[in-house]
Amino acid sequence: MPTFHWEDRAIEAPAGMSALEALLAAGVLIPSACRAGACQSCLVRASAGTVPPAAQLGLKDDQRARGEALACRLPVSDGLQLTPAGPSALAGELVLQRRLRPTPTVAVLYFSPPPGLRPLAGQLLHLIREDGLSRPYSVASLPEDEHIELHVRQVPNGQMSTTLCDTAPIGARLKARGPFGDCTLRDGEQDRPLLLVGVGTGLAPMLGLARDAHHRGWRAPVTLIQAGLNAEALYTPETLSRLSAWPMLRWRPVVLQGPAPEGGEVGDVVEAAKRALAETPEARVYLCGDAPVVNRLRRALFIAGASLSALHADPFTPTT
Ligand SMILES: Cc1cc2nc3c(=O)[nH]c(=O)nc-3n(C[C@H](O)[C@H](O)[C@H](O)COP(=O)(O)OP(=O)(O)OC[C@H]3O[C@@H](n4cnc5c(N)ncnc54)[C@H](O)[C@@H]3O)c2cc1C
Ligand code: FES
Repeated sequence: MPTFHWEDRAIEAPAGMSALEALLAAGVLIPSACRAGACQSCLVRASAGTVPPAAQLGLKDDQRARGEALACRLPVSDGLQLTPAGPSALAGELVLQRRLRPTPTVAVLYFSPPPGLRPLAGQLLHLIREDGLSRPYSVASLPEDEHIELHVRQVPNGQMSTTLCDTAPIGARLKARGPFGDCTLRDGEQDRPLLLVGVGTGLAPMLGLARDAHHRGWRAPVTLIQAGLNAEALYTPETLSRLSAWPMLRWRPVVLQGPAPEGGEVGDVVEAAKRALAETPEARVYLCGDAPVVNRLRRALFIAGASLSALHADPFTPTT
């Protein structure tokens, strides 16, 4: 069995196991979310040992040069020496200021941030309950906004989503870790179209990116596909209503089951996204929300011609 090191501690784990699984099994609480190399929550630094390219996919050149790697994509091996990296320290406490319930299963939440925490639209924060339960949520707001906006779907018997949607009183304080992830706009791409697909509460980061594009004076079309099961499941946050007047925005609601939502269509979101990509093949593509649908979208759009370097996906994989 290979032995690797986490700081000064030697940990044995079966060959083929990821460093993330091995660390969690050994009781080391490092942040994680997607467990698929997408969200960058599990960033570690390797000062020695073998780091395959797959463990550094999506990281910036300076991060690679520092030996940073995604623990969920890093197989354990003899001689691997790991330490924490990235914003794994607590960022402070968020205070719940306002809760809207646009549908029976969705809450739009506004938190006042602790000093110094200004996440970018599309990044994610891990919220931590008093009992230590931790879950990631994607950011819909801009760093300039007064409040951090999150959209949460209440999952049946869901521990954190019930707290956030129902039981946490206004004024409740939740610790946060982060921000994580690179599902954010790139600098200097104002002339490149954007294709944003938000499934369910995956709308949150996509709306954030659309608002960010508006804020940065985007000159290319921004297509925002909002997908849901049916028209009742779709919701329109205040920020989206205001943004809908922006001429560069093409907002396209798509539902699986009829009747069609206002200005939208009934059908498969994958087909709608493929059509949108055909209209703007050079678009940078962002996909977020319900994991099975997002994974299907990622495969289909890659086959349809989107390049891997311009395809960003944050599937909402349940925390196991
Ligand atoms: C990168 C990332 C970003 C995320 N961003 C958001 C966000 O912006 N908004 C948001 O609402 N959620 C988001 N999530 C999902 C969120 O982190 C939680 O998983 C979700 O709120 C459920 O947590 P819970 O504690 O309520 O449920 P749990 O108590 O963990 O689960 C209760 C039961 O529900 C099942 N379950 C959990 N999640 C789902 C699901 N999505 N679909 C079907 N069954 C499920 C579990 O397997 C379990 O059986 C994100 C997840 C990831 C990985
Ligand atoms: S948990 Fe490793 S990248 Fe998301």
